[in-house]
Amino acid sequence: MSVDLHGRSYLHELDYTAAEIHHLLDLAAELKAAHREGRETPCLTGLRLALVFEKSSTRTRCAFEGAAAHQGMTTTYLDPAGSHIGHKESVADTARVLGRMFDAIEYRGYGQDVVEELARTAGVPVYNGLTDTAHPTQSLCDVFTMREHSGRPVEEISFCYLGDASNNTAASLLAMGSLLGMDVRFAAPRDLWPDDELLARCRLVAEGSGARITLTESVDEGVHGVDYLYTDVWVSMGEPADLWRDRIQLLLPYQVNAKTLHATGNPATAFLHCLPALHDRRTEVGADLYERYGLDGLEVTDEVFASPASLVFEQAENRLHTIKAILVATLGGE
Ligand code: CP
Ligand code: NVA
Repeated sequence: MSVDLHGRSYLHELDYTAAEIHHLLDLAAELKAAHREGRETPCLTGLRLALVFEKSSTRTRCAFEGAAAHQGMTTTYLDPAGSHIGHKESVADTARVLGRMFDAIEYRGYGQDVVEELARTAGVPVYNGLTDTAHPTQSLCDVFTMREHSGRPVEEISFCYLGDASNNTAASLLAMGSLLGMDVRFAAPRDLWPDDELLARCRLVAEGSGARITLTESVDEGVHGVDYLYTDVWVSMGEPADLWRDRIQLLLPYQVNAKTLHATGNPATAFLHCLPALHDRRTEVGADLYERYGLDGLEVTDEVFASPASLVFEQAENRLHTIKAILVATLGGE
């Protein structure tokens, strides 16, 4: 069956079918190869993309800007302080304005309801560049990276997310893995498990896709034999810094370190992280946490981050190719 995503927004994994996600993954592989081999043909020339960021970004912004430039689009970036959105102008009014000036809008912010309202009112495709509860361009990149690295069908791939399993990245991995029929595992303290409502939806989706979903507080159980270990920061953007003390106490047993890698019992296990990562003292936050708690590395040690098992920079590059696939599929070829 042919897949047509023209005019569609990309707000949440579960808005899409598995066939539609596979279409994006295949397109991303083709676009990556074309770019590498110098045969990429711009197919979005003259189109305009608005990038609205209410939170900071390195990869997501650069991936959207880079992908748009390769495909002939122009972009306008509105930074967290540089627009009226939410302060002096409602999301709905802003959406109507941007929809008249742009062919598509990327939005990174807080509530999932905000990006959904944007999509309802803008009249052009809207892309979710991260909210408090979802990071769907990241999960697309993550499964792309696992598929590319392993060379296996996604249904045959297992991953275990360790750490704050209640955050946006974990939620998106749960949704994406469930939709695609993967072996999806979370090793985390019960207080930081994914949202119950999302979990219930994903369990239903898994009945159809064949996905296996495991939630456990036991690291050994979660990581046994797994293909990929995945972690993310223990305190996310928008959360108060005074959470660090509690989170460190709760999550230190779930740090990805050499012991965790060994505990998989699988010599081929690789490591993934959406980035940015706190793996050493060479950041302001890392240095401050070292001063206060004596920890040189939080969710992952530098030993694992910098090891041959780590795919984090390949993964980061793949943000470009997978976001490009979303742009081309939803805006190209009419
Ligand atoms: N992984 C990710 O979304 O990175 P940025 O916050 O730098 O965009
Ligand atoms: N969970 C992190 C992801 C950053 C890409 C955050 O929201 O800060």
